[in-house]
Amino acid sequence: MSDAKTVFVRTYGCQMNVYDSDRMTDALAPVGYSTTENLEEADLVILNTCHIREKAAEKVYSEIGRLRKVKDARAGTQKPMTIAIAGCVAQAEGEEIIQRAPAVDLVFGPQSYHRLPELLRRAGNGARVVETDFPAEDKFAALPAAEKAVTMKRGVTSFLTVQEGCDKFCTFCVVPYTRGAELSRSVAQVLDEARRLAEAGVREVTLLGQNVNAYHGQGPDGTDWGLGRLLFALAEIPGLDRLRYTTSHPRDMDDELIAAHRDLDALMPYLHLPVQAGSDRILGLMNRKHTGEEYLHLVERIRAARPDIALSGDFIVGFPSETEADFQATLDLVREIGYASAFSFKYSPRPGTPGANLDGQVPEEVKSERLARLQALLSQQQRAFNASKRGTEMDVLFEKPGRFEGQLGGRSPWLQAVHVEAPAELLGEIRRVVIEDVGSNSLVGRLVGEHSGARAPMEKADTVEANAGGVA
Ligand code: 5AD
Ligand code: SF4
Repeated sequence: MSDAKTVFVRTYGCQMNVYDSDRMTDALAPVGYSTTENLEEADLVILNTCHIREKAAEKVYSEIGRLRKVKDARAGTQKPMTIAIAGCVAQAEGEEIIQRAPAVDLVFGPQSYHRLPELLRRAGNGARVVETDFPAEDKFAALPAAEKAVTMKRGVTSFLTVQEGCDKFCTFCVVPYTRGAELSRSVAQVLDEARRLAEAGVREVTLLGQNVNAYHGQGPDGTDWGLGRLLFALAEIPGLDRLRYTTSHPRDMDDELIAAHRDLDALMPYLHLPVQAGSDRILGLMNRKHTGEEYLHLVERIRAARPDIALSGDFIVGFPSETEADFQATLDLVREIGYASAFSFKYSPRPGTPGANLDGQVPEEVKSERLARLQALLSQQQRAFNASKRGTEMDVLFEKPGRFEGQLGGRSPWLQAVHVEAPAELLGEIRRVVIEDVGSNSLVGRLVGEHSGARAPMEKADTVEANAGGVA
């Protein structure tokens, strides 16, 4: 019998989890695991979970319920199934998962994925293992297979985690508890990984961090580099034509980062800059440490540096004690900024966060009604932004085959999905495209210089509510 085994990973939540899931499969490759898309057949199933809102966390338990049936059906056969829970629910609930879900063999937090082979060995001996410590070693450096795996990777675009954790302690947010204190990778580590990605054919890298612009990695000169300086260095790497980063806190948009938006063609003109709310009183209660006015002023400075920049944001409605007037301040701020895309949520009290204990929790139906009004405004802005691109020319990076024969799917500089009739050999290339048709979530374009033929119908809209990624 061979040692070959298969692992199925299901990823919830933000882009950081997407990145982490890849690192888990990297760590498992040297001990004989390959990935499978077929859950029914997998030897190991990992749920990489999200704890940011209650709904996200509850999904995990219903999924474990479904998995248990598959596991039970295979019990006693030659092919038992191991179930592991990773990510932020694992970190936050640890032992509780073991008690509530007997089918689970292993629970491990975001700081432990590089130790997965060892944890599995322990779990394989019949014990049920919980590992939610924050170990002192550097998990990024400790990944044995990362070098090989990264060069085998991965399409045209890639994520690259540069920092993790958060010290901001917004009063609604679990991240400082589940992901721990803010930690930046060194400049050398980041540049090294970025070079390997570029050599493997990656054209666009999105730097990830829960609070990515708090980045302060050790530079080769021994001083700490901020994200702006890091971006200037990344822009020098041949083949990396596009850089993005997510997700940012307004208080960490320093001059050098704004200068990077002004000076670097490779830095795409799209910025996810969550404000969460418009009322200064609510911003204070959220511990955001800035006012609405300061945010507006910051956006003015960024737009002066890069006039075509598109803004995206996150919003929470119904934070404790939010009045109609407070909510109106959020709508006013949104009208003033004009967002190209946005993510908005009803406040969800998270155990252990200060917000959960505040007086004046807002009734569910009020939250729902405010969310609907906010989303109507944000969708209108998104449609207007997309419509403004009709008839214009832009560069599109072709990332994948399109939905229809003869089509490729790509991204605009502003992260819009663009569908274009184009030959398959343009995959991985950037081409000039003129936009001929516009939907609320995607554009249809034609290669400049080509004549338009019969046009394929537009792809159905992606959802507006999906989580943008990290948190900030
Ligand atoms: N309730 C609702 N939304 C939340 N977010 C973070 N914590 C909560 C919470 N407790 C939102 C914020 C953040 C995004 C990723 O999720 O808007 O920016
Ligand atoms: Fe940190 Fe962002 Fe959470 Fe605030 S919302 S605590 S900045 S991760």
